[in-house]
Amino acid sequence: MLILGIESSCDETGLALYDTARGLAPGRAAPEGLLAQALHSQVAMHRDYGGVVPELASRDHICRVVPLARSVLQTAGCAIDAVDLVAYTEGPGLAGALLVGAAVARSLAFALEVPALGIHHLEGHLLSPLLSARAPSFPFVALLVSGGHTQLLRVNGVGDYTLLGETQDDAAGEAFDKTAKLLGLDYPGGPAVSALAMQGDPTRFKLPRPMLHSGDLEFSFSGLKTAVLMLVKRELDTQSDSAHTAQIRADIAAAFVAAIVEVLCAKSIAALRQSGYAQLVVAGGVGANVQLRQSLNAAATREGFAVFYPEPALCTDNGAMIAFAAALRINARGVPQANNVFSVRPRWDLTQLG
Ligand code: KG4
Ligand code: ZN
Repeated sequence: MLILGIESSCDETGLALYDTARGLAPGRAAPEGLLAQALHSQVAMHRDYGGVVPELASRDHICRVVPLARSVLQTAGCAIDAVDLVAYTEGPGLAGALLVGAAVARSLAFALEVPALGIHHLEGHLLSPLLSARAPSFPFVALLVSGGHTQLLRVNGVGDYTLLGETQDDAAGEAFDKTAKLLGLDYPGGPAVSALAMQGDPTRFKLPRPMLHSGDLEFSFSGLKTAVLMLVKRELDTQSDSAHTAQIRADIAAAFVAAIVEVLCAKSIAALRQSGYAQLVVAGGVGANVQLRQSLNAAATREGFAVFYPEPALCTDNGAMIAFAAALRINARGVPQANNVFSVRPRWDLTQLG
């Protein structure tokens, strides 16, 4: 079955083609099914505003989605009428942005007389490490760290997700983005803060480790952002020497990364202990973070668990994870009936999926 996947929940338009006969058949490896993928990131467009402008995002998705669909079909050498199912991100995300992907997917499926399937964006992230050459198997614990979510989940199979803990306020990616802004770095802040932190001394300033000893698997990052703000006011706003300023900024970035990584790592280990599972899957944009990976890899060796990440290109939003999540759903549940129910869900609880 040839699946066209469309991602448009935020500021990336992602398209991909996944062939279940090549990727999920006996004796085949999942990556073999990914025939083509194409992505347009709107980061440059939103940078001037310091964050995503929803209306601009929707309008840009409209311009990109059809050319990108053509591009993946051409790369894979497939005609449009070879597509057997159109999968799209139904939620969560920006309502207008989701509507673009949903409208294109539903119209295309209607015209081709094939089913369309709405996919939960976080399920896409969660299952994307299964698209690696070295893939985990069910069951596993997932640490989902994106721009809007920070969750620990027990994953027993496709659609079988139990929430173990989540952030009470800001998401990890949001904390990275806000810290970047305080340090005068461009949006999106995660990669920039990470790179700056590498030049800094993580021990010069001590930042809080929110809820590290809370005894549960909940997170909170808004206090960390406030602590960074206080540090910036105290150390940077009073400093006029530019050489000193550069080093202070790097040291604050390093202190921030050390704090957030320590909390994410400690709670992931606690979640593994609590569930008795030996595999950890890390997904979502913050999963691309080098310092987090170093720390989790060291913990895995020390504590005797295995840790899995998506391929670097699949950490942030993309169409491949949507096409692939649809493929796994169809493999587990069968092909959905063709229907014309058109819906998007800007807010959508992952654990409500069946
Ligand atoms: O999963 P994602 O692409 O989009 C959402 O579904 O939210 O995640 C985007 C988030 C942003 O907050 C971005 O700053 C963060 O992931 N991010 C990173 C890195 N790359 C992306 N954070 C830390 N280090 C990175 N290397
Ligand atoms: Zn995402």
